[in-house]
Amino acid sequence: MDIYKEIFENNKKWVEEKVKNDKEFFTNLYKEQNPHFLYIGCSDSRVPANVITGLDIGDLFVHRNIANLVPNTDMNVMSVLQFSIEVLNVKHIVVCGHYGCGGVKASMNNTSFGLLDNWLRNVRDVYRLHESCLNEINDSNLRFDRLVELNVIEQCVNVIKTSYLQKSYIKNKYPEVHGWIYDMKSGYLKDLKIDFPKILSKVRELYNLE
Ligand code: CO
Repeated sequence: MDIYKEIFENNKKWVEEKVKNDKEFFTNLYKEQNPHFLYIGCSDSRVPANVITGLDIGDLFVHRNIANLVPNTDMNVMSVLQFSIEVLNVKHIVVCGHYGCGGVKASMNNTSFGLLDNWLRNVRDVYRLHESCLNEINDSNLRFDRLVELNVIEQCVNVIKTSYLQKSYIKNKYPEVHGWIYDMKSGYLKDLKIDFPKILSKVRELYNLE
């Protein structure tokens, strides 16, 4: 079957399956959403947020872009952050990168991709911040993996720099910020276990907005 038609067939089967177990499934979800997680990940087709986490619809508020970036000038990601913190009251914010990320890889090469160069400049800035550590890694694949990890950590820092995160955390003790890596070769998720309270207090030395 042509893949375009297949989508609608799949959707029909999925609806029937959901309603079979719970007649009110869609009508209840229509009334409100109450996700506990904001997930910020890469647009890569091989890293679908709900599939890799095993969470159902309604469980994850999702923002995806090339290389899972959180630039403070991007109205899109900033709006998602503000809304999920102030309105949805999410308890956790996850930035999830993935090994083999094409966006991160592109930022390590001297090739122009037009408009995208401006977006990926954010990853080059991460490289610049950690240049000496990264240049010490001789194996180019390991250096690539490490940049993927450092990019996730720096995007977590960008989340923590925002007034929304600081205001909410000081008042409510949530949301907590986490950095994850999805390993495309194995399918496993890895928690980078960033020291959120330590990063928050360090960030607040310069970026205290509350
Ligand atoms: Co990617």
